[in-house]
Amino acid sequence: MEKTTPTQYDVKVQYNNSILNYAIDHSDQLTDIQKELIQFTKENIERHIMLTQAEQCSFFKLLIQVLNAKKTIDIGVFTGLSSLTAALAMGDEGRVVACDVSTDYTQHALKFWAKAGVDHKINLKIQPASKTLQELIDQGEENTYDFVFIDADKTGYDTYYELSLKLIRKGGIIAIDNVLQHGRVADPNANVEPNLVAIRALNDKILADKRVTKTMLPIADGITLVTKIN
Ligand SMILES: C[S@@+](CC[C@H](N)C(=O)[O-])C[C@H]1O[C@@H](n2cnc3c(N)ncnc32)[C@H](O)[C@@H]1O
Repeated sequence: MEKTTPTQYDVKVQYNNSILNYAIDHSDQLTDIQKELIQFTKENIERHIMLTQAEQCSFFKLLIQVLNAKKTIDIGVFTGLSSLTAALAMGDEGRVVACDVSTDYTQHALKFWAKAGVDHKINLKIQPASKTLQELIDQGEENTYDFVFIDADKTGYDTYYELSLKLIRKGGIIAIDNVLQHGRVADPNANVEPNLVAIRALNDKILADKRVTKTMLPIADGITLVTKIN
């Protein structure tokens, strides 16, 4: 099926793809604030292609609720959609550790979180995610997190994966975004550059990783879910 555009970030994904739109229409709908955040980002932020996609939001909401999650980590915040999605999915005791290096992007996130009334649930840490994750480990929080979403710099993914595996509880889920790299992972003629090398290596490592049960889903740009076995 043909895509009209590779930058599919609208309130509803703008694929010329009736099946995808049908699936989105028959999933939980975004809240008004989520829609507003997406619209704002599209209209004001040049790299709006980085936004989490609509079909991922309802999927993560369901996962977080199935897990009865109370502690989550969002690695890569941008304008705040994935953190907002996690915060909205949890009860009032739910917490998100939100990791990013950019105050330019996250200044907008802070406004939307406040507008949605969930800012008290989200602890934004502006520093490299590896530092924040290591600090959580040093504070004794190993094996206590229910859900982690990895969606920051691709060459850092392996580090985030290893640190997240320490922080996640048995049965918790780590969701790893962009694991298909727009199909380039499976294209032998793709230009080999650092992000592709990093993602291919991590995909192969996770496949062989006996610590986790894993599944790679061709949703959005590919999401791998892993759950810690022990
Ligand atoms: C793809 S965007 C995240 C999208 C976000 N999950 C959403 O829902 O829209 C990637 C983000 O990772 C951040 N980032 C890049 N390097 C980072 C690092 N070393 N530590 C933490 N965040 C980083 C960028 O500033 C950017 O906001």
